Amino acid sequence: MSAVTASLCSTLMFVLFVSADQKIIKAESGQNVTLTCRAPNNNIRVLEWSRADLGSEYVLLYRDEHFLMDNQHPSFKNRVDLQDRQMKDGDVSLILKNVAINDTGTYECRVFMEETWQWQSINSTNLHVVPPGFNADMKYDLGPESVPCAIK
Ligand SMILES: *[C@@H]1O[C@H](CO)[C@@H](O)[C@H](O)[C@H]1NC(C)=O
Ligand SMILES: *[C@@H]1O[C@H](CO)[C@@H](O)[C@H](O)[C@H]1NC(C)=O
Ligand SMILES: *[C@@H]1O[C@H](CO)[C@@H](O)[C@H](O)[C@H]1NC(C)=O
Repeated sequence: MSAVTASLCSTLMFVLFVSADQKIIKAESGQNVTLTCRAPNNNIRVLEWSRADLGSEYVLLYRDEHFLMDNQHPSFKNRVDLQDRQMKDGDVSLILKNVAINDTGTYECRVFMEETWQWQSINSTNLHVVPPGFNADMKYDLGPESVPCAIK
């Protein structure tokens, strides 16, 4: 029983470790940051950048060379751009200007591809914004590894 528990536990730890391995970007408030993301090619119908905790409001939605504003979260208005609006070689990286502490979060980029005619999630980026002069490396013990065993 305890062996089963232990192996289940280490499996969960492994999974969480892998997902914790996602890109982490640290920035100071006031900086402009680039969240990189690359689609397989530039046959992209729609590009969406989102943050799970914002619900249905997106960070950026780009289609037919236009930014769609209808359901954009208000705090990203006039603060987001694409590194390359042509999305050359599938570059769908996001530029987020003048970041604030509450821009901290997990940003996800998804593309609706021409060939497959379906949405495809690419990788997500964890952005941590700290006050200017604050040593980001000293803080932020994410500690997801310690969670699964404690939960049981
Ligand atoms: C991000 O996605 C690319 C392409 O899908 C993949 O090669 C890369 O390993 C991913 N990186 C992370 C940190 O998940
Ligand atoms: C951020 O980008 C804007 C223009 O897009 C520029 O005016 C501003 O100086 C940049 N800020 C920093 C901190 O680099
Ligand atoms: C962050 O804070 C600013 C002002 O304090 C607010 O206008 C904005 O909506 C907040 N952003 C998010 C994503 O909650």
